[in-house]
Amino acid sequence: MDYLKLHGHAPLHGSVAISGAKNASLPLIAMTLLSKNTVSIGNVPEVVDIKTLLKLLQNLGAECSFNEHRITINTGSLTDTKANYDIVKTMRASILVLGPLLTRFGHCEVSLPGGCAIGQRPIDLHLKALEKMGAIITIKSGYVLAEAPEGLSGASIVFDKITVTGTANIVMAAALARGTTTITNAAREPEVVQLCEVLQHSGIAIEGIGSADLTIHGNNGTLIDIAPFDVIPDRIEAGTYLCAGAITNSTITLTHVEPKHLETVIAKLEEMGFHCDINEHSITIHPAQQVKAVNIVTQEYPGFPTDMQAQFMALCTQAEGTSTIEERLFENRFMHVSELQRLGADIKLSGHIATITGPSKISGSDVMATDLRASSALVLAALIADGETDIHRIYHLDRGYEKLESKLKALGAVIQRSKE
Ligand code: EPZ
Repeated sequence: MDYLKLHGHAPLHGSVAISGAKNASLPLIAMTLLSKNTVSIGNVPEVVDIKTLLKLLQNLGAECSFNEHRITINTGSLTDTKANYDIVKTMRASILVLGPLLTRFGHCEVSLPGGCAIGQRPIDLHLKALEKMGAIITIKSGYVLAEAPEGLSGASIVFDKITVTGTANIVMAAALARGTTTITNAAREPEVVQLCEVLQHSGIAIEGIGSADLTIHGNNGTLIDIAPFDVIPDRIEAGTYLCAGAITNSTITLTHVEPKHLETVIAKLEEMGFHCDINEHSITIHPAQQVKAVNIVTQEYPGFPTDMQAQFMALCTQAEGTSTIEERLFENRFMHVSELQRLGADIKLSGHIATITGPSKISGSDVMATDLRASSALVLAALIADGETDIHRIYHLDRGYEKLESKLKALGAVIQRSKE
């Protein structure tokens, strides 16, 4: 297995190009199951999760290619509708094929994704919504068996909790359903907005895009024609690099980024004393005179993103005073705390609230990545650690950060990837 070796205290400088969004790409790839033509998608990040979903579609009989950040997919010759456990277990977002497969073929089998490090992550809301649309759902030997022999019917869906992939699944299922579907308490993440926009450009009438109330007018089973498009920038990758600039008190510029997707992240950085120059597609972060402690509560978009929680916890170890971070979305998303403590951070946990007292002296050590965003928090801490830090199990990072070490090295970090 690979690990990252970092030497701390190298100042960063220059600019970094942000890649396309992993969490936008995944539903958009699943959406190609609704298309009658070959779909071309640009600005797709070359990360493991994307390759995993493409492999799943290929196993179903789709023709896929992925070169230079562009994917082409033709699902016209699909022969199978069973998404096997061996792939789904490696990436829970595989559940995104459930809605499209069911609405197109009237049946499918998708392995239950199982939990992951950050929580149990059930899919009950996905399944209840599909049942309201007429699906017959049974769980058998770890698989979701979904049947809708007459196709799906539009329904009024009210999500008890805001679910990003749940909203995406139902939007895609509704696109080919008979009649109109309304979704109340829909997710408003930019990744869901892009999915709705691409479907709308492809002929599916959708109202309320970007709001918590969506109305999708199904086309009763007609496969759609999807014109080429590019994936939006990855706001979480961008937020992670902003934290890299902040934690090293450097001036760096992010290009190919969508600032309006980062409003709460930028506001929190400015509250901590950093200054961000915002242009149409770039952000430059400048050092703080004094890094101030803050209080953070994670919320669904447009609130402070849970996917930035670990990164800000690393940053808060350098703030003057006591910061608090409350994680409201996942029940176990503090796996990075013990590893940050090993590096010298002063963090106390009480239920879903972490209290971070700074500034702490961070000393290099061996640490272990546990999930995608926790791993990036360890990289951030290692950038300012005294001495050397080895971060193990970085396959977690490879799932969602494209060329992380080469991007950081180009900014001036002393980092290399080695084999255990
Ligand atoms: C998406 O996961 C993202 N993944 C996650 O990013 C992100 O952390 C999460 O949204 C929240 O923003 C992708 O988009 C591929 P949810 P998702 O359904 O859709 C509960 C990363 O780092 N829930 O919005 O799986 C659930 O347990 C990843 O890139 C149910 O109870 O998250 C959680 O507490 C990590 N029943 C909350 O809702 C359900 O049926 C939000 O989950 C579905 C969800």
